[in-house]
Parts: sequence; C-alpha cells; structure tokens
Amino acid sequence: MDNRAQWGTRAGFILAAVGSAIGLGNIWRFPYIAYADGGGAFFLPYLIALLTAGIPILILEFTMGHKYRGSSPLTFARVSKKAEWLGWWQVLISFVISTYYAVIIGWALAYAFFSFKLSWGDDTGGFLMGDYLGAADTEIGTLGGIVPNVFIPLIIVWVITLGVLFKGVKKGIEAANRIFIPALVVLFMIIVVRALTLDGAEIGLNALFKPDWSRIGDSKVWIDAYGQIFFSLSIAFAIMITYSSYLPKKSDLTNNAFITGFSNSSFELLAGIGVFSALGFMAKASGVDISEVAADGVGLAFAVFPAIINEMPAFNEVFGFLFFTSLVLAGLSSLVSISETYIAAFQDKFNISRTKAVAIGGGLSALISILYATKGGLYLLDVVDHFVLSMGVGLSGLVEVILIAWVFRKVKSLQGHANELSDIRLGSWWVICLTVITPLLLGFMMIKNVYTDIIQPYGGYPVSFLVTYGWVALGLTLVAGFLFAARRWNNDVDAHNKEVS
Ligand code: PFF
Repeated sequence: MDNRAQWGTRAGFILAAVGSAIGLGNIWRFPYIAYADGGGAFFLPYLIALLTAGIPILILEFTMGHKYRGSSPLTFARVSKKAEWLGWWQVLISFVISTYYAVIIGWALAYAFFSFKLSWGDDTGGFLMGDYLGAADTEIGTLGGIVPNVFIPLIIVWVITLGVLFKGVKKGIEAANRIFIPALVVLFMIIVVRALTLDGAEIGLNALFKPDWSRIGDSKVWIDAYGQIFFSLSIAFAIMITYSSYLPKKSDLTNNAFITGFSNSSFELLAGIGVFSALGFMAKASGVDISEVAADGVGLAFAVFPAIINEMPAFNEVFGFLFFTSLVLAGLSSLVSISETYIAAFQDKFNISRTKAVAIGGGLSALISILYATKGGLYLLDVVDHFVLSMGVGLSGLVEVILIAWVFRKVKSLQGHANELSDIRLGSWWVICLTVITPLLLGFMMIKNVYTDIIQPYGGYPVSFLVTYGWVALGLTLVAGFLFAARRWNNDVDAHNKEVS
C-alpha cells in the first residue's frame, strides 16, 4: 500500500541529515559568532542551546516525519487540518532560501577555479564587489544585467542539484551524500591541519578559545547561541520532517537525532579551529590585531580567505581550491535538502511524479535564482536572506512548538512513538524543553529581533527596499502558505491517520 520512497540504510539517512546540517553556516557563521560572543565562554550557551532546543526539536521533527510519513504540509495536515498552513509556510520559506543559496554555491564554484591563478589579485575585497559581482557601482534596488561569471556556475549548481533530486531518495540524495560528506570531511581536515601549522595560528586559536565570562550575562550572546543552533541544525526549515518521512518503520529516532546534532557541532568546532588558525596567520603576516581580520559571511569567505590564500608560504592555489571546493560540497548537500522539501510537498499534495515535481519546483527556483546573478543581486540576496531566513525560520519554529505543544497537544503521543522505537528513552526533560524552554526562548528572541529591525533598518538599506524585498517577501510566503493549505488534496490525507491511530 505504502509506496513512499525510503532510505537504503540508516547510515544513508544520517549522512543526508548531517549533510543538510553542515552547510555554509558551520564554516562562515559559527567561528565568528563564537569569537565575538565571548570566545571560550560562548561554548556554554551554545551547549545549553544544543541540549535544550537543538536536539529536542530535532527529535521532535524526526518523530513527526516518521510517525505521519509525509512532507512538511502533509505531516502538519495529519496533525490537524488546521495546521497544514504551517507546513506550507516552512516549505515556501525554504523555496525562497533555495533561490539564493544556489547563487552563493555558484560563487564558491567560480572561486574554486579562480584559485588556480589567484585571479582575485591583491585587492580581494575590491575584486569581489567590483570585478566579480559588479555590485560596487550598481544602485541598490536595480538589477543591472546578468553577470556571466555568476550565471554559468549557477547553472552548473542547478544541473548537479536537480540531477541528484531527479534520481530520487535512495539513488539520488543518499548516494550523493555518501560521496559529498566523506569528501568534505577529508578536504576540510587537510585545510585544518594546514591552517594549524601556519605561523601565527596560535594567535587565532587564542582569540577563539580565550573565555570572556563577562559576556555571559548579555542576552545577545544567548540569542546568538540559540539562533546558531537552529540555523545550523536545519530546524524549522521543513527539511528534517521531510527527510525522516523516508525512514523505514523500524528506525531509532532519538539516537539518530543525537548523532546528527553532535556530528554537526563537531564539524562546527573543526571549522572554528581551521578558520581562526588561518585568521591568526593573516593577523601576524600583516602585523595587525586579529579583530581587524576577523569576519563572517560573504566577506570572510570571498574577501578575507582569498587574501589569506595570497599570503600563504606555499601551495596557495591548492589550499584555495580545497577551501572553495569544501564550501561547494557543504552547500550542495544543504541545497539538495532544502529543495527536497517542496518537491516532496508538491508530490504529496498534487499527486504528481517526482520527475514532474523536480521539473516544476526546482525549475522555478532555478529560474528565480537568475535574479541574484545580476549586478544588483548581492543586495537583493542580503535583504531576502535577512528577512526570510533569520526572521522567517525563527518565527515558523516558534509557531511550530506552540502548535505542537500547546494547541494540538501532541508532545505526549510523539514521546510514546519515539520511545517505542529508540534506545535512548525520552523523559520529562524532553517535554519540558519543548513545552516551556524553547517557546519562551524563541519567543523572546523573535520579539527582540523584530523590534531591532523596526527601530534600526537592517544594513542601512533604504527602507522602501527593505519593505519590498524583506517584509513583503516574508509576508508573501505566509499568505501563499495559507493559499496552498486551502487547496484540496489530490491525495487522501487521512489514509495514514487511520493506520497510525
Ligand atoms: N544547516 C545549514 C547551514 O548551516 O548552512 C542551514 C541551511 C541553509 C540548510 C540553507 C539548507 C539550506 F539550503
């Protein structure tokens, strides 16, 4: 009866979940946040966030996907028809993220090739904004023509991603992650060992690990810790629910969540060591303080790292190639996971084949992504990312725990479901984390974020630009979520309910 696709092996599922979790966030976000939020002292809030929110919600999402056996909209529809919109909202947020995430992977691909000749020259920041992206003299809010060096790698990224997705869960997603993730770990280990042996590495490590306990009382530090855990574990993106809907009936859910959570954090730590060793080297080589070279995001990866690569004593090109290839691999496995959310949702709701769902969903995302392959694309990407990702994912995560824990009161039955199948038993700590700690913390975090955004327009952009591409884009995902939920199912949503209850 049940012809839902399935993972081939337990390791295959874990690799895919870890592949989704390990993304650009681990490499370019975690190290800087840890450094800026108290160094070694940051590990305390980080660990608390992992244990009180990250892993408990991961267990929740694994259990929901497994119990209700559906994409995010189908899973929430099976919780209650009144919750379906949330599944769609998360899927649509993921859809928007996929449109620009692909572009960043495209940049990394281009830079992997630039590494062969260190084409970025001495002024790496100028090269990025001017020669490469053509953003420097483009007015914010205008697009100003397609940039071929962004457009061509973007096409390659989509060909690989959609190629993987066309092949399905086992032969596509699982098989790709079996290659991507081990390859990523090996490449990244080489980078870390090389970085650790550079002159000045200890300066960077000191900056990353020296604890500044005075920061521990600052609410920003705690918000950053919870935000990083959410983002990094791909929670509330509809991803983990979708992936766990492909688990076989007999699957250990709790243990899988712990393995995924700890693997992701281990990689995060590894990235911190690698990135800060390299930054320490750079600070020493240019005779400046570490604070002058430390950065995150696009600036770290595409301006600071090329500068570090220029300075390296030997094998600069190889190091550059390995670094940018790592970004590509980490990014691709996350892009595959986020794209699978809407492909699965379309398949479930409209009863269409995978091939059709990939062609329509993936094709549309690829088409929209061309908007960011323009000269003004960077600004657009930055604003959409801030609102849809930082704001949207946090808000939808908050709504998720409130609906599951308080409105539909499903925590107890999900606890029973997970405990029937898993080695580790979920006790009352899990219930308390989900019903009290996470809603309170996430609620506080989102109120503060929304407030900050209102009193202080993000990134100094013109307010009209922020409203159109930030607030309106976020609002549209929500409205579209309700519209999708209002449509009739071409499939029988309740068929499974009878089976599980
Ligand atoms: N866990 C991912 C990361 O740390 O980069 C978050 C993510 C972003 C997942 C974008 C998927 C994605 F498309």
